[in-house]
Amino acid sequence: MLPIRLSSSIFLSALEKQSAKTFVRLKSEIFQKHILDGFLETVGNTPLIRLPRISKDAGCEILVKAEFLNPGGSVKDRAAYFLIKDALDKNLIKPGGTIVEGTAGNTGIGLAHICNAMGFKCVIFMPENQSKEKIDILRVLGAEVTTVPVVPFTDPLNYNHYARRYAEKLDNALWTNQFDNRANRMGHYATTGPEIWRQTNGKVDAVVLSTGTAGTLAGVSMFLKEKNSNIRTVLADPPGSSLYHYIKSGKLDRTDGSSITEGIGQGRITENLKDAPIDESLFVSDQETVNMTFRLLCEEGLYVGASSGLNVAAAVTVRMRQDDIYLVEKFTKIYNDICQLRQAFEYSTVECRNKRAESEPNITDTR
Ligand SMILES: Cc1ncc(COP(=O)(O)O)c(C=O)c1O
Repeated sequence: MLPIRLSSSIFLSALEKQSAKTFVRLKSEIFQKHILDGFLETVGNTPLIRLPRISKDAGCEILVKAEFLNPGGSVKDRAAYFLIKDALDKNLIKPGGTIVEGTAGNTGIGLAHICNAMGFKCVIFMPENQSKEKIDILRVLGAEVTTVPVVPFTDPLNYNHYARRYAEKLDNALWTNQFDNRANRMGHYATTGPEIWRQTNGKVDAVVLSTGTAGTLAGVSMFLKEKNSNIRTVLADPPGSSLYHYIKSGKLDRTDGSSITEGIGQGRITENLKDAPIDESLFVSDQETVNMTFRLLCEEGLYVGASSGLNVAAAVTVRMRQDDIYLVEKFTKIYNDICQLRQAFEYSTVECRNKRAESEPNITDTR
């Protein structure tokens, strides 16, 4: 980080006083426009990025909301911030207390950052099949991490119930309960949805998103549908999840197989998903996810994780008339697995380069 000094002069002539006034005014403008007031203000307000090559191929504008630029590296920073802020507003916890959560990783990373910034202790329970990188990062950030066996939510030994029980035993502790605490989706209703609306001047045809808690999709959909009920809201679902069928038929039937993706897919209706205005669902295979993740890397230069690849693959499938929007987050597991899987999916760097060369001639065509 570059330290910047903002003031210095002591003895001033009239001219200097005038310019000092200008300087002071400029200084306050700088504060208003360019300087964020502490770590918490770095959460959200992420850019929207147009994908020139993939948009050209798809025949429609595809934009990604760059959630990997949040300080903790994922969309879950927003949920983490709003879950804690809501609890503070409701006096459910006091500064200095302990935040406890069951999380597959990114919410934990978000919570650990926010806890450091706000002076809370952070305790995380997670299923033991999650990537080692996430656990290491959490520990470096100062969180206490316990891994527990992978069992369904209905089992009392599920990581969420561990977190709840642990928080219940402590004084001044809060189980943030990201899946069923609607402060999660209200955070996206208050920030992510309005940002997308503002950044596109309201010209959005569809939002395509995979879900874990469903906080992001529900909050964004609620906001955008209030602005324009014609905006299509699409849930993109990986193998092994039950939401694809739930949105289609109302039945929680699991799709076959399991997925390399982390943090997305769900076997139940969370409180955050309940009553969310979602129009349709799309199933995305791991092969489509991996291919698109590498297209994003090789053709667009975007180093993102599997859930982002899945979102973009689904957005291309939706092929809406004009603008498609979806969120991008980044994490590392796919790059570990994919080193082995890449050949199997026959998407080599050479193919990436060829593909890029084909779409190079006029990347602004679809604007
Ligand atoms: C990278 C990533 N993307 C998306 C999601 C799902 O977001 P939500 O819980 O808001 O549905 C998660 C959840 O952990 C995640 O880690």
